[in-house]
Amino acid sequence: MLLEHKNAVIYGGGGLVGGAVARAFAREGARVHLAGRTLAKLDRVAADIRAAGGTAEVAEVDALDEQAVNRFVDDVAARAGSVDISFNVISSRDVQGTPLVELSVGDFLQPITTVLRSHFLTGRAAARHMIGQGSGVILAFGGSGGGTVVPNLGGFQVALEALEAFRRQLACEVGPRGVRVVTLQTGGVAETIPEGYEGREELVASLVEPTLLKRTATLEDVGNVAAFVASDKARTMTATGVNITCGAIVD
Ligand SMILES: NC(=O)c1ccc[n+]([C@@H]2O[C@H](COP(=O)([O-])OP(=O)(O)OC[C@H]3O[C@@H](n4cnc5c(N)ncnc54)[C@H](OP(=O)(O)O)[C@@H]3O)[C@@H](O)[C@H]2O)c1
Repeated sequence: MLLEHKNAVIYGGGGLVGGAVARAFAREGARVHLAGRTLAKLDRVAADIRAAGGTAEVAEVDALDEQAVNRFVDDVAARAGSVDISFNVISSRDVQGTPLVELSVGDFLQPITTVLRSHFLTGRAAARHMIGQGSGVILAFGGSGGGTVVPNLGGFQVALEALEAFRRQLACEVGPRGVRVVTLQTGGVAETIPEGYEGREELVASLVEPTLLKRTATLEDVGNVAAFVASDKARTMTATGVNITCGAIVD
C-alpha cells in the first residue's frame, strides 16, 4: 500500500472530490481525518471507509476559520502523531454565468478570498507541523486552465490561478524543509455534475470535447493520482501541477 502509517487531513472530505480522495487514501493505508462544516456528510464517507476496513475520523471545521483550522491540525498531530498529507478541496463559493462587466465586486471576489484564505490557513497549519517532521505533502485541486480562457466564470479561474501562485510561493519556502506542494490540475470531472442538472449534457460535452482521450477524469481517477502524488513514490515532485485533464491541457 502507498500510504501506510500516514495521517491525511482532508478539508471538504464529505464532498464528491474530497470523499473520493479520502476513500483512495484510506484504501492505500492512510488514516484519514475528514474536516467540513456538516458532520452528517463526513460521517457518510467515514462509514464507507470503515466498512471497507480503513480508518477515518471526522471533525466539524470551517476551513475559513483560523482558530478552528489550527486547533484541528494541532489536535490531529497530538493524537495521531503526525500530519503527513493535507488536501483542501472545499467549495469555492464561485458565482458563474454572469459576464464580468455585469458582476458585482462581492460576487467576483468571493471565490478569490475563499480559495486564498482557506488554502493559506490550511497550508500554513499543515506546514508548521510538516516542517517539524521534516516531511509532508500539501495538495490542492484546480490548476491554471493551461492558458485556455472560457467566458463567464466570474472570479473562479482567477481564484485558481492565484492558488497556483500561492502553491509556487509555499513550495519555494517549505521545500528546503522537506515539504512538497502539488496541485492536481483538473479539466473538470463530469461525474460531479448532478443528473438532472439543467444543461448537464452540454456541460459534459464541453468538458469532454477539448480532451485528447475523449473523456474526463473520473472521481476514482482523481483518487488514484492523489494517492500516488501524496506517497513517497512521488518524492521528486514538488512546486508543480499534475495534469489529470485527459489531454484537455497539452503541456
Ligand atoms: N468537480 C469538478 O469538476 C471541479 C473542477 C475544478 C475545481 N473544483 C473545485 O473542487 C472543489 C470541490 O468540488 P466538489 O465537486 O467535491 O464539491 P462538493 O461536493 O460540493 O464538496 C465540497 C465540500 O466542501 C465543504 N465545504 C464548503 N465550505 C467549507 C468550509 N468553509 N470549511 C470546510 N468545508 C467546507 C462542503 O461541506 P459543508 O458545506 O458541509 O462544509 C462540501 O462537502 C470546489 O471548490 C470546486 O470548485 C471542482
